[in-house]
Amino acid sequence: MAPSKTFCVVVLPLLVFTLLTTSAKAAYNVLDFGAKADGKTDSAKAFLAAWSAACSSTSPATVHVPSGRFLLNRVAFQGPCKNNKINFRMFGTLVAPSYTVIGTSNQWILFNQIDGLSINGGILDGQGTRLWDCKLAGKNCPLGAASIVFTKSKNLLINGLTSINSELAHMVINGCEGVTMQNIKISATDDSPNTDGIHVQMSTNIAITQSTIKTGDDCISIGPGMVNLWVEGVFCGPGHGISIGSLGKTSIEPGVQNVTVTATTISGTQNGLRIKTWGRESSGFVKDVVFEHIVMQNVDNPIVIDQNYCPYNRNCPGQHSGIKISNVKYNDIKGTSATPVAVKFDCSLRNPCSGITLQDIKLTYKNKAALSSCTNAIGGASGIVVPQSCL
Ligand SMILES: *[C@@H]1O[C@H](CO)[C@@H](O)[C@H](O)[C@H]1NC(C)=O
Repeated sequence: MAPSKTFCVVVLPLLVFTLLTTSAKAAYNVLDFGAKADGKTDSAKAFLAAWSAACSSTSPATVHVPSGRFLLNRVAFQGPCKNNKINFRMFGTLVAPSYTVIGTSNQWILFNQIDGLSINGGILDGQGTRLWDCKLAGKNCPLGAASIVFTKSKNLLINGLTSINSELAHMVINGCEGVTMQNIKISATDDSPNTDGIHVQMSTNIAITQSTIKTGDDCISIGPGMVNLWVEGVFCGPGHGISIGSLGKTSIEPGVQNVTVTATTISGTQNGLRIKTWGRESSGFVKDVVFEHIVMQNVDNPIVIDQNYCPYNRNCPGQHSGIKISNVKYNDIKGTSATPVAVKFDCSLRNPCSGITLQDIKLTYKNKAALSSCTNAIGGASGIVVPQSCL
């Protein structure tokens, strides 16, 4: 064989193969950066070093977290990165330090300014029980840290991530664009204070699907500036249900628009589907919301709009909420209420709710039709609606 031919037949394919495999498999194992899977050595530096390698890779990169327990002090995984395909592959558990260490931080684990990140697997153990005990005992305790927070990021896939016993919210999406969360598992006890499951705000195009959320506060809480949210196939409970709000805390606030919650079960919660606003002036709004194909199991307040939120009755002159609520559709919502009133629309006198529609509702209390109550709510009903509509 002529040397040039040898090059083409043997060397060139090898070279191409080597190039392809090395570029496709830039994988950074946190153990190689000094992480210890012993549950007690702080591995934050090692995780940050592995992140930094993946983030500065010009081709797709994987941060590999093997099985075991990794104690992790407060960490911020910062972008922007040099590639838009980072895979955080987790087999192990990340363990938070004590609340005395991170309880005054906003978050334990932060991902900021990243385009194109997927997180696959893993367990976050927020170790929140001692902070809850402190709070439940009425002591003077720090607020706590959310377990994982994503800010100013886009094109995120969070798949198969589990969070247990967060100090504050389990997962927060704030200021992001294009986020898919699927197969998420969240758990904390029903009396754990302030442990929202997933909090989303100031973001567009978020989907939360096929997930189980058992916690002490809202399963999903939807804050100002959330546009295009899709929730499907979620099991929620215990907890406080799925809540748009509280909105209108501040006078200038972006609205919530285009939210769909479908094929979801809400079980043993304080609220089912709630929209909650402060009773004070605000530029905010809620519009184009669909709640459909929902099963309620023994829920205290299955369907509720409350525009009179004002703890301690402070700074809410006349209790007039400025938040305009319009075009909210409830379709195919069935099951049981744990209290006599299953549908309650308590809207703002100055800004009545409009375009509220009920279709095919069947909510019972102790095997009998439950009750509904309406204040300042305009809309209509179709199909079979039990309790009878008060719109
Ligand atoms: C509403 O949001 C969904 C995703 O949840 C999206 O597919 C749809 O296009 C949005 N509708 C409008 C009018 O933007």
